[in-house]
Amino acid sequence: MIQHLAIIMDGNGRWAEQRGLSRSEGHRAGARAISGVARAALKAGIRYMTVYAFSTENWKRPKAEVTTLMGLISEFAVSELPNMMKDGVRLRTIGRTNDLPFAARTALLRTIDLTAKNDKLILTVALSYGGRAEIVDAVNRIIAEKRTAPVTEQDFTSYLYAPDIPDPDLLIRTGGEKRLSNFLLWELSYAELYVTDTYWPDFDEKELQKALASFGGRKRRFGGLNEQNQ
Ligand code: IPE
Ligand code: IPE
Ligand code: MG
Repeated sequence: MIQHLAIIMDGNGRWAEQRGLSRSEGHRAGARAISGVARAALKAGIRYMTVYAFSTENWKRPKAEVTTLMGLISEFAVSELPNMMKDGVRLRTIGRTNDLPFAARTALLRTIDLTAKNDKLILTVALSYGGRAEIVDAVNRIIAEKRTAPVTEQDFTSYLYAPDIPDPDLLIRTGGEKRLSNFLLWELSYAELYVTDTYWPDFDEKELQKALASFGGRKRRFGGLNEQNQ
C-alpha cells in the first residue's frame, strides 16, 4: 500500500526543446500536469503526494526562467483552487518559502488556507526546497530552543518541515536522471525508487499506473530478513 508518493517532476525543459518550444512552455505544461496526476493518485487510494517543483539550487538558473517559474507558482495556486475544492485536495508547501516573491507567497497562502479542511489528498509542493536546508533548519530550531537533552531520530523528525506526514513509500523521478537532487534526504531513507524516461509534462494516469505496478512487485525489508509493510 502506498500512503505517500513523492515525485521529482523533471524534464520540462527537454520536453519543450523536443517540440521546438521555449523552456517556459515546458514549465507551463509541467504545471498543468500536476492536477491530473494528483487526481489519479487520489483514485489509486494515495493519501499524500509531495512534488518537487523548485529546489534551493534552482535559484541558480537564469533570472528570466526563475521569474517564469515564480509566475507559474502563483497561477497554479489560483487556477487549481476550484479543482482542489471539488476533489477534496489540501495544498501544503515545504521549503524556504519565505524566499519566494510576495505574489507567489500570497497566492499560495490563500489556497493553503481555503483548502485546509480538505482531507482526501494532501498535496505538498516543495518550493525553494533542499533536503540539506531542511536538515540544517531543523538543527537550528533545536539550537534556538537551547535544548540539552539528547535528540533521538523520532525527536529530530518532529523538527522537519512536515513532521505529521509519513515517509514516502515510493519516489518517482521523471526525465530519466538517476539521482535525488537534494530531495527529501531524510524522509526517503527506505522509499522504493522508480525512474522513467518520460518527461514530466507527459506523465499521466497511465504512467502512474506503471509506477504503481512496479511498486506492487517490490519486497520491502527495511533492513530485516522478512518482507515488512512498515
Ligand atoms: C524540472 O524541469 C522543473 C524544475 C527544475 C523547475 P527542468 O527545467 O529541470 O527540465 P530539464 O531537466 O531541463 O529537461
Ligand atoms: C530537480 O531537477 C529539481 C526539481 C524537479 C524541482 P533539476 O533539473 O534541478 O535537477 P538536476 O540539476 O538535474 O540534478
Ligand atoms: Mg532538470
